[in-house]
Amino acid sequence: MEDLSPRPGDLEPIETASRDEIAALQLERLKWSLRHAYENSPFYRKRFDDHGVHPDDLKTLADLAKFPFTVKTDLRDNYPFGMFAVPREKIARIHASSGTTGKPTVVGYTAKDIDTWADLGARSIRASGGRAGDIVHVAYGYGLFTGGLGAHYAAEKLGATVVPVSGGMTERQVTLIQDFKPRVIMVTPSYMLSILDEFNRQGIDPRESSLAVGIFGAEPWTNAMRREIEDAFDMHAVDIYGLSEVMGPGVANECVETKDGLHIWEDHFYPEIITPETGEPVADGEMGELVFTTLTKEGLPIIRYRTRDLTRLLPGTARSMRRMEKITGRSDDMIILRGVNVFPTQVEEQILKCAGLAPHFQIELTRKDRMDVMVVHCEATGAASDAEARAASARELAHHIKSVVGVSTKITVHEPGGAPRSEGKAKRVVDNRPKE
Ligand code: DLL
Repeated sequence: MEDLSPRPGDLEPIETASRDEIAALQLERLKWSLRHAYENSPFYRKRFDDHGVHPDDLKTLADLAKFPFTVKTDLRDNYPFGMFAVPREKIARIHASSGTTGKPTVVGYTAKDIDTWADLGARSIRASGGRAGDIVHVAYGYGLFTGGLGAHYAAEKLGATVVPVSGGMTERQVTLIQDFKPRVIMVTPSYMLSILDEFNRQGIDPRESSLAVGIFGAEPWTNAMRREIEDAFDMHAVDIYGLSEVMGPGVANECVETKDGLHIWEDHFYPEIITPETGEPVADGEMGELVFTTLTKEGLPIIRYRTRDLTRLLPGTARSMRRMEKITGRSDDMIILRGVNVFPTQVEEQILKCAGLAPHFQIELTRKDRMDVMVVHCEATGAASDAEARAASARELAHHIKSVVGVSTKITVHEPGGAPRSEGKAKRVVDNRPKE
């Protein structure tokens, strides 16, 4: 693979600024953001007043811990536009995330917010190894989901040629990659695997494709999956993180030269890690729930937003801004099986250790004799698809999961093509337990 380390002049000055410079900028911007929220969003004015805090109470970055959290239901309760801090006419674009139940979460951006988002997205693509002049194939879904349009504006801002394919129609994805020869692809890692299948089905060697950089996010994926995709395509696979409530893709991104976690673009987002049970902030290096405060967002400033994503903060490496470790999972996706916490990413890691198994999987929860049962649906590779080989792979996977994760599972190894495929965010867990 190509060495894609940044060349002199590639980085913005803030990417190599000292910690003191970053902290000073954050404090100044945080004061503005709290004041903006308090003065212009009736929701935040009431929330701060009820909590007995005022923007003037923030003298240092650590004082942020005095302020109340914002949670997803706050956005739902103020559906659709009740969280905006500017008149609706100043909102240039709306996005929404569907979630599993109830009303969608609606967010809004001013023209300046859209511009900042494009800048940070462009910074993210550059960190991934993309350059002006590249062809960028965007296979994140377009629409209310922030993936497609977020990636699109980012690539345009970078000076790339954007191919706005959106998700789905996998056969056509491969045709367009073959014909247009993009250097960069932006897509969920699970959908990249569907695209990989399609390359193989058409008898095209994915290693011969033009792709040199993949920017994968919107769902948890492991370093084992990174190796799988990098080997299959002979390309760099880099992690991009974001969420609509905070902005969209490009809140944090890995650097291609280190691939050691995602640098948070701390000049626009202030991260904290808290203990989920108590809400207390923990020190850098400790695991917990990721919380974000926006520092520059006008349309919908968000103060101490509880993401439910579990990770830890680490010092900067390739950039001076801090990193977050690759996300283990969302607290909502954590399965508690007979007292043991299990994340789908742990299952993914074990599947990728088994040579006879393809990387597609879904976890089903059922109940038998009042006991919860976890069934892992996965599938054989073409080379290991007879019944005997499948049974051996099932035993191997059950053994790995038992010894590394610590739970007994039922494994169903389907024939090639038998596990569910993703066209966007993969649905990793299906709960078929009877409702109480
Ligand atoms: O998924 C934004 C996005 C689009 C990010 C494209 C990256 C690429 P939402 O639909 O609001 O926004 O979902 C946000 O997705 O809280 C995480 O749980 C999960 N997520 C996003 N990126 C990653 C990642 C977009 N790199 C939720 N690793 C977040 C793990 C991720 N989980």
